[in-house]
Amino acid sequence: MNNTSKHVPECDVTAALDCARRIAAGFAKKGMVSDNAPGYYIETFGCQQNEADSERLAGLAELMGYRKSAPEDASLILVNTCAIREHAEKKAFSIIGEFKHIREKNPALIIGVGGCMVTQRHRADKFKMSYPYVSFTFDTGSIHLVPSLVEKAMKKRGRSFVITEDYKIAEGLPTVRREGGAAWLSIMYGCNNFCTYCIVPYVRGRERSRRPEDIIAEAKALIADGAKEITLLGQNVNSYGRDLEEDVNIASLIRMICALEGDFRIRFMTSHPKDASDELLRVVATEDKVVKHFHLPVQSGSTEVLRRMNRRYSAEHYMGIIDRLKEMCPDISLTTDIIVGFPGETDEDFEATLEMLRRVEYDMIFSFIYSPRIGTPAAEMEDQVPPEVSGERFKRLLALQDEICEKRNARFLGRRVKVLVEGVSKSDDGMLTGRGDMARPVHFKGTPDMIGKFVELEIVSVGAYSMEGEICLP
Ligand code: 5AD
Ligand code: SF4
Repeated sequence: MNNTSKHVPECDVTAALDCARRIAAGFAKKGMVSDNAPGYYIETFGCQQNEADSERLAGLAELMGYRKSAPEDASLILVNTCAIREHAEKKAFSIIGEFKHIREKNPALIIGVGGCMVTQRHRADKFKMSYPYVSFTFDTGSIHLVPSLVEKAMKKRGRSFVITEDYKIAEGLPTVRREGGAAWLSIMYGCNNFCTYCIVPYVRGRERSRRPEDIIAEAKALIADGAKEITLLGQNVNSYGRDLEEDVNIASLIRMICALEGDFRIRFMTSHPKDASDELLRVVATEDKVVKHFHLPVQSGSTEVLRRMNRRYSAEHYMGIIDRLKEMCPDISLTTDIIVGFPGETDEDFEATLEMLRRVEYDMIFSFIYSPRIGTPAAEMEDQVPPEVSGERFKRLLALQDEICEKRNARFLGRRVKVLVEGVSKSDDGMLTGRGDMARPVHFKGTPDMIGKFVELEIVSVGAYSMEGEICLP
């Protein structure tokens, strides 16, 4: 492998792959292959980064000789957890509790828990003390260790609770991609920003960028494999390349990928407003292969709250980016993340967030009630907002955004849009779901052979939350 960026911290995955193959050979010896192979099941919580990690966990499970199955039929269950809010942690505890019953029926079942939640010492300890049927936990930097943890569990050599705090990049792990033509491509890992509410920097380590040549090689392989959409992933993709020796940034990386042959498109997430360069905005506006959608988390419309969140931009700076983006690309779809009820948030601060929504007119927002995370500075701040106040504000935020969504979606009525057909609609299995430049998916009647391909739709109805289309005949 070309080693131009000497300081890219890489793990040695050779031992992991050897161990996985050793496990597979053991199954093969017992005739446990093909339909007879032991089952694996993976439950994933949280963000796209976790979904991408779970694709690598699936890749490792299949290399170990397991085949995908329902949890009841599995010999290996892996739970990839999220720690961003209390709710996500509760859900993980609850599902792991349910897996206990499967383990009672099948004592040979191996249950492993990984991800952000168990990268926190107090959570790993909880599994150690109170969940005896969990064989091992592993931190976000230790996915490549899973085969050795499985092997140890098979040989009944004791339970393991791994927190290495040795965050490196694991190149070359096998991957089982999701269906539907859209693929995740992690371009960097970790976060350096330490927003005061956020647990991520404590559970995913500092920023590490993958080498551009590794990313391009993966993008080429994905396209050759039929991928129609590639989403570049990282906690803050706008700082991509800062730790590399090469002169590369997110804008030049996207340009390099756009230059690859093929009918595909590119998305990227997540962006941090303090690092969103005009060069990146220009790339979005001018490159045909880049989807005209920008996800730019604002978190709050109040500069004072942003200061206490350690976001390092003001509401005015944020609006400046939005204005430039709209000027360069008038039809851009904008989405954001908002936290309601951050400690010390006053009625005035909250009004400023509502005003931000009115001014920007997002196509969609992802809004969250602030959830204190142990170990983060905001959890220690005075003036925690009472739940009833946060709840009331949250409702007002959603009501305002509903009106804005309806208005924004209306602009698509009667338009022809090219969408990538992602699969069968989750709410109506007689319909398919496709995604175009707009933030919202479009539902339409089609045939399963369309999944994973681009189709042209005419938008025939829109609501605040949904859009329907009809296939345009050529
Ligand atoms: N409470 C509520 N929301 C949070 N987020 C991150 N940490 C917290 C927290 N402690 C939200 C932010 C971030 C999104 C992924 O999750 O809005 O952008
Ligand atoms: Fe968390 Fe802020 Fe990093 Fe995003 S940029 S992962 S919100 S610390």
